[in-house]
Amino acid sequence: MIKIVNVSKKIRKTFVLENINYTFEQGKIYGIFGRNGSGKTMLLRTLAGLVVPSEGEVEIDGKKLHKDISFPPSIGVIIENMELLPQYDAFTNLEILSKIKKVATEKDIKETIKKVGLDPDSKLKVKKYSLGMKQRLNIAQALFEKPDILLMDEPTNAIDESGIKMVHDLLREERDRGATVLIASHLKEDISVLCDTTIKMRDGKLINE
Ligand SMILES: Nc1ncnc2c1ncn2[C@@H]1O[C@H](COP(=O)(O)OP(=O)(O)OP(=O)(O)O)[C@@H](O)[C@H]1O
Ligand SMILES: [Mg+2]
Repeated sequence: MIKIVNVSKKIRKTFVLENINYTFEQGKIYGIFGRNGSGKTMLLRTLAGLVVPSEGEVEIDGKKLHKDISFPPSIGVIIENMELLPQYDAFTNLEILSKIKKVATEKDIKETIKKVGLDPDSKLKVKKYSLGMKQRLNIAQALFEKPDILLMDEPTNAIDESGIKMVHDLLREERDRGATVLIASHLKEDISVLCDTTIKMRDGKLINE
């Protein structure tokens, strides 16, 4: 469970997040939508522990971020401008990441790469991937350790039509195994079919629909 209590983030003189209160429950898909610049990415970065709020607190399963814990212990993230290692193939990228936590096996890695429609045995370096292929690998990177929390910023960016259906099915699968899934998008249509709950952001605030 993720609990946000009175969270604000001020950068210079502007509130990019303003007095946000919300609780995300386990086993649900939440859609966060709002126009460009409304604060979706900032909110996800804050929940990931990458941005420290100016006021308020984020609790992950009762533990306070930046007090009890530095980062959510079990989390998978896609955030804009993230970088895979271009000089390695897909399998090697995830294998390197897997050495940090040591929870995913070689089989987990290969299965996840297959699930996103890529070839786990391909030696093609990521620098030769198309945009959509990179995004698919980003998704695999977020999912492969079966985290409790998934923060997905515009997960279907650059993904083709059949790929979008695949991403939706994968995220439903994650929810059904009990993960809390948050998806940010500027297109409500993109996420409303998938989400159990949608919330809207405007000017750094959550708006009740
Ligand atoms: N590093 C930063 N320094 C100052 N302001 C920032 C910084 N990062 C984001 N902002 C501001 O915070 C606000 C929210 O940005 P954010 O990236 O969260 O929007 P978003 O909802 O994700 O938009 P998009 O749909 O374009 O991805 C914007 O006004 C942006 O200018
Ligand atoms: Mg964004």
